[in-house]
Amino acid sequence: MAEHGWEPNSRRRKLLFDFAEYTSAHGFIGIQRTKSSFKRALWALATLAMWGLCMYQIFVAVGKYFEYNTVVSIQIKHSTNVSFPAVTLCNLNPLRASWHLSNLMKSKKENVLSDKKNWTEEQWREFNITQQKPDDMNEEDEIKYKTFELIYSKNINLTEAGHSLDKMLLECTFQSSKCSAANFTRWHHGTYGNCYTMIIPRNKYPSFIGPLYGLSLTLYAQDFEYMPTGWSTAGFRVEVHPAEYVPFPEDQGFTVSPGAVTSVAVKQVRVDRMPLPYDGTDCGDVKGDDVVLPPETVNQSLPHREPVLQNMFQFYSDVLRRDGYLEKVNYTTQACIKSCYQRQLVKRCSCVDPSFVTREQARRYFEPRNMSLPDACKMAYLSSLRCVRKVVKETTEQGMCEAECPQSCYEQEYLQRITSNLWPRTSYYASIKDVWQDQLPSMEAMNEATKVRTNIAKLEIYFEARHLLLQFQ
Ligand SMILES: *[C@@H]1O[C@H](CO)[C@@H](O)[C@H](O)[C@H]1NC(C)=O
Ligand SMILES: *[C@@H]1O[C@H](CO)[C@@H](O)[C@H](O)[C@H]1NC(C)=O
Ligand SMILES: *[C@@H]1O[C@H](CO)[C@@H](O)[C@H](O)[C@H]1NC(C)=O
Ligand SMILES: *[C@@H]1O[C@H](CO)[C@@H](O)[C@H](O)[C@H]1NC(C)=O
Ligand SMILES: *[C@@H]1O[C@H](CO)[C@@H](O)[C@H](O)[C@H]1NC(C)=O
Ligand SMILES: *[C@@H]1O[C@H](CO)[C@@H](O)[C@H](O)[C@H]1NC(C)=O
Ligand SMILES: *[C@@H]1O[C@H](CO)[C@@H](O)[C@H](O)[C@H]1NC(C)=O
Ligand SMILES: *[C@@H]1O[C@H](CO)[C@@H](O)[C@H](O)[C@H]1NC(C)=O
Repeated sequence: MAEHGWEPNSRRRKLLFDFAEYTSAHGFIGIQRTKSSFKRALWALATLAMWGLCMYQIFVAVGKYFEYNTVVSIQIKHSTNVSFPAVTLCNLNPLRASWHLSNLMKSKKENVLSDKKNWTEEQWREFNITQQKPDDMNEEDEIKYKTFELIYSKNINLTEAGHSLDKMLLECTFQSSKCSAANFTRWHHGTYGNCYTMIIPRNKYPSFIGPLYGLSLTLYAQDFEYMPTGWSTAGFRVEVHPAEYVPFPEDQGFTVSPGAVTSVAVKQVRVDRMPLPYDGTDCGDVKGDDVVLPPETVNQSLPHREPVLQNMFQFYSDVLRRDGYLEKVNYTTQACIKSCYQRQLVKRCSCVDPSFVTREQARRYFEPRNMSLPDACKMAYLSSLRCVRKVVKETTEQGMCEAECPQSCYEQEYLQRITSNLWPRTSYYASIKDVWQDQLPSMEAMNEATKVRTNIAKLEIYFEARHLLLQFQ
């Protein structure tokens, strides 16, 4: 020890000396070993500078970590385990004209002049206010609003009044084997009357790519059954969606026109989101009356989140169960927001929007909660329309429903590429005409392909590629 520059003459010095001698951290040994005090100073300076730099880097790295940045990773995978989407289709026209004429006209005559004869002035004034019409409303929309309200308030049995798939489905093939109207499940929709959903059983069919391995439907729109006013287009509303998600064809669907073959090439996309605190977004599912969130986010996220009652669309779950598809309906932001909007309407305007809830569905939501069944909003009249518009404005501006409805942590979607082409060819129609007319006696004698083009539509749905995976980590 004597040959070294410093003599350890105190306990503290000895401790420092031992540290410098035995530490595995770089630099200290240099300070300790050198004999000249100039070199020792240099060593000390260099060591301190390097250690300073090291501490700085550690601070930066820890700071970065607590910013909770995300990385979007996109993986394009070829997977054999993709499931074919469920297909929901509805005729654009909710009530058949023949049903409408024979039923509603009759009841109208009975109702005229029932109890208004000895109304007071006051009652008349109130009544006249509710009958005021907005002067800028499009006539077609007015007829539609009145029809939706009629379906709700008269509790019309849409099974009878709407278009039946038995009379609309001319041909159905899936992967070259025949299917029929029995493969579809019927449910009721305020805007379209009868809607039909087809779910392809999982694992029963391979999900290969190309039109030959897809679903092909030939559909008869029954143009002669359309209401004379209000519906300017004949055709179908179609949505391609995961079977577990409640379909909203009015928002997420597309229209299939007669006289054309519509090709829908789909690609499955999966999105995984990270829960809070990553990237400041939030994800979680809200089911029924209880909030189900990943446990680590429960206390951090949105403290005043109300339980959201998605049960307004419980009917879809029941329909799937009835038809033996034992899948539960999953949470979607769309269903949550639409149900939140309905609840706001009931709270503020004492009515429900009948364009996407039927009376039966509303009853099943309100009755178990001991609430009286609300009326339909009379959107064709000024007083009701004002209230509805106000609620729409406030729910969007204050983001009330967005706050209640988080995005799901796991989502599936089908990306669609839709193309269409004139159909059928004249000579093709000549060859198939008799087959179709045998199959559907209700189909009027249509001798020329040009006539057919106002009534018959073809729809093809197939995978164009396997799937795409999106992950937010
Ligand atoms: C595909 O799904 C089936 C059933 O869900 C499973 O048994 C099989 O292992 C899956 N195959 C792959 C490659 O993931
Ligand atoms: C009209 O008023 C009379 C007496 O005010 C009442 O007895 C009668 O029931 C009322 N008629 C209707 C249809 O309300
Ligand atoms: C209400 O309207 C009816 C006809 O539409 C009219 O005869 C009556 O005078 C109106 N009453 C009031 C109080 O505005
Ligand atoms: C509606 O009509 C169908 C067919 O006629 C019938 O089976 C069904 O029970 C009716 N539904 C209601 C709620 O009346
Ligand atoms: C249609 O229904 C039949 C009989 O229930 C069944 O055998 C067939 O697999 C179904 N087709 C599709 C594509 O689901
Ligand atoms: C959330 O907060 C409640 C009380 O406010 C507490 O009982 C619960 O343990 C907390 N949960 C978590 C995951 O921290
Ligand atoms: C609804 O009312 C019935 C009887 O009036 C009662 O038994 C039931 O508990 C009530 N349900 C709710 C959810 O309040
Ligand atoms: C629906 O939820 C189940 C269970 O939570 C999950 O396994 C499934 O992948 C979900 N399906 C879709 C399409 O998100």
